[in-house]
Amino acid sequence: AADKLEYVKSKIGKHIDFPKKGIVFRDIFGALTDPDACVYLRDLLLQHIRAAHPDVELIVGLDSRGFLFNLLLATELGVGCAPIRKKGKLAGEVISVEYQLEYGTDTFEIQRAAIKPGQKVLLVDDLLATGGSLRAATELVRKVGGVVLESLVVIELEELQGRKKLDCNVHSLIQY
Ligand code: PRP
Ligand code: HPA
Repeated sequence: AADKLEYVKSKIGKHIDFPKKGIVFRDIFGALTDPDACVYLRDLLLQHIRAAHPDVELIVGLDSRGFLFNLLLATELGVGCAPIRKKGKLAGEVISVEYQLEYGTDTFEIQRAAIKPGQKVLLVDDLLATGGSLRAATELVRKVGGVVLESLVVIELEELQGRKKLDCNVHSLIQY
C-alpha cells in the first residue's frame, strides 16, 4: 500500500501560480492520465473505506472533481451515490447552503430525496483546501437527514488547516 501511495503521489501535478499568482496548484488530473495510478488510487480509497466504514450506505461526491470517485466507489462497495452540485443544476426539491471561497461565496445544493433519514454517508472529493466546500457539504447532508461518517479526500493541503473547519471525521491519502 505504501508503494501504491508513493506512486500516486509522484504522478500528482504541481502548477505554480495557478489559478493566480502565489498559489501552488496540486492537480489530481496529472495522476489520472496514468493507468497504474488510476487503479492504485481506486484500491487505496476502497481499502480505507472497507476497513474504516464497512457500514457506509451512500457515497456523496462534491461538484465537480468528487464525481470522479463517487460512482466508482459506490459500484465497488455495492451502495448508491449522489451529487452535491453548485446552484441551479439539480432538479426537484433541493436544499441550499452558501459557503466561503478564497474570495467571495458560492452555493452548494443537494436533492432532498437523495438521502433517506439516518442513512450513513461518506463524502468524497479530490482535495481539501480551506475546508469551506466540505463544511457546506456536511451541513447539507445533515439537513436532509443523513449521518456523515467521514469526509474522504485524495489530497489535503495541510497548511490551510481545512480539517479544523470540519466537525466530522476527515481522512486524506496524500498530504502537502
Ligand atoms: C476545488 C476542489 C474542492 C475544493 C476545495 O473545487 O476540487 O472541491 O476546491 O477547496 P476548499 O477546501 O477551500 O473548499 P472547485 O471549487 O475549484 O470546483 P471544481 O471541482 O468544479 O473545479
Ligand atoms: N488544487 C486543486 N484544487 C484546489 C487547490 C489545489 O491546489 N486549492 C484549492 N482548490
